[in-house]
Amino acid sequence: MKLLLDTANVTEIKEAAGYYPICGVTTNPSIISREESDFFETLKKIRSIIGEDQMLHAQVTAHKAEGMIEEAKRMKDELGKNFYVKIPATKEGIKAIMELKSREFQVTATAVVSAKQGLIAAMAGADFVAPYVNRIDHHGGDGIKTAADLTKVFREHHLSAKILAASFKNTKQVFDNALSGSYSATVPLQIMEDMLKHPLTDTSLETFDSDWKAAYGEKHITD
Ligand code: E4P
Repeated sequence: MKLLLDTANVTEIKEAAGYYPICGVTTNPSIISREESDFFETLKKIRSIIGEDQMLHAQVTAHKAEGMIEEAKRMKDELGKNFYVKIPATKEGIKAIMELKSREFQVTATAVVSAKQGLIAAMAGADFVAPYVNRIDHHGGDGIKTAADLTKVFREHHLSAKILAASFKNTKQVFDNALSGSYSATVPLQIMEDMLKHPLTDTSLETFDSDWKAAYGEKHITD
């Protein structure tokens, strides 16, 4: 599974780039707005941290297909290769996705809260489809199953779209999503940190330390 970081915060991106096996960054208008800085300035800073080998996903704000296409063109010009424009899986969004794919844009269909939306977006040519796992769960659905159903239907119907599962609020959702076969997930830094934390690991390390010190004192392996 591929792991992306769901933030526009440059401090978090630098931290994650140094410590975690991420292969890209995703943002949306809410995430960008938290940074209280210029849209393109923020995205260019992110690009300079992650480089062009990593994916950068950023979302349009227009509601009509024509506006989405204009915004996508500007973002593609400014943000280099490995850029994916996030287009909501609405009726206008599907129109925009088809047009953008005919112009060789890389597209992520976003705000997907049902498998049916995801299927239409994949048939329209989206490269990634982003089911919002926690938002689906929160409204009484099953986010993991939605992502798993989409993975299955893409495979059975030879659709090239891949899952980029999003909207995670806990570590179990992230692991269950991986277990259910999703191609990728975008996760906030805090959840990545929480996936590693375990008190039993901490106590194991404390024991290793005290046993080592009892035998070798302050000597290190490299001394
Ligand atoms: C991806 O960038 C999605 O927009 C994001 O994961 C949504 O997350 P939220 O449901 O926590 O706002």
